[in-house]
Amino acid sequence: GKVAVLLGGTAAEREISLKSGKAVLDALLRSGVDAHPLDPDAEILNRLSADAFDRAFIVLHGRGGEDGQIQGALETVGLPYTGSGVLGSALGMDKYRCKLLWAGCGLPTADFVLLRGAEDLSAAADLGFPLMIKPVHEGSSIGMARVEGRDELERAWRSAADFDSLVLAERWIQGAEYTCAILGREALPLIRLETPNAFYDFEAKYRADSTRYHCPCDLSEDEESRLQGLALEAFEAAGASGWGRVDFMVDGDGRPFLLEINTVPGMTDHSLVPMAARVAGIDFDTLAWRILETSL
Ligand code: DAL
Ligand code: MG
Repeated sequence: GKVAVLLGGTAAEREISLKSGKAVLDALLRSGVDAHPLDPDAEILNRLSADAFDRAFIVLHGRGGEDGQIQGALETVGLPYTGSGVLGSALGMDKYRCKLLWAGCGLPTADFVLLRGAEDLSAAADLGFPLMIKPVHEGSSIGMARVEGRDELERAWRSAADFDSLVLAERWIQGAEYTCAILGREALPLIRLETPNAFYDFEAKYRADSTRYHCPCDLSEDEESRLQGLALEAFEAAGASGWGRVDFMVDGDGRPFLLEINTVPGMTDHSLVPMAARVAGIDFDTLAWRILETSL
């Protein structure tokens, strides 16, 4: 059948999505799939039906494409699509409610405070410093800052608030950052991220040569499979399915703290899911095909 590769969109991560989408489109074409790029606008549903598409491969990052909106629209017109449904997508895009859910299930995540306005800053400061300040509904570390003390807090909150009316303050976990790619109901090998920056920020993700990716990572087999199990549990607890990526920190005592889930993670040729897949023996074209199968 005919596949629409949805890419671009209007979110802050548009440029990343265009790259991810192009890589997926090329992979599907190499596998002989009748795939066509489509950058959604208000006419998206008409275009999908006018051109008689059979399914959609969603490679949209951020609001509008990764948060349940497009998924709901596709449900309404009965067009199968890749990855998580409406609920998992919406929760995955909402760092605050996802953390509430994890805390409610007894899954580990760093202490946090929701910043709705300046009146919430002192409750955030009470968590202790350093703090991570993040827009609730962003990706790729856009709008995020690590804050070392009370005097930097208000400015970081205002910068994050430029991207989102809701901002999250989260206690900083000293340790290492890991990510776990998920394909189907399986966790792929963990990747440990190492950056000289204050944290794994936009620059470290997309521009820096100094970021190091350790995959296979340095954990024992037991430790790795314990963390993979946690990632899978966190992913499924949020209602996410098909494929995605779970990010978390591990502190100096080996305790994990869930950061967030990505239901449409980056798919550029040097993104993390393709990297983990490669270590698991799954090349990029096969990965794109396996993700397409999640729409069945
Ligand atoms: N939000 C970016 C695309 C990622 O998680 O890879
Ligand atoms: Mg994200």
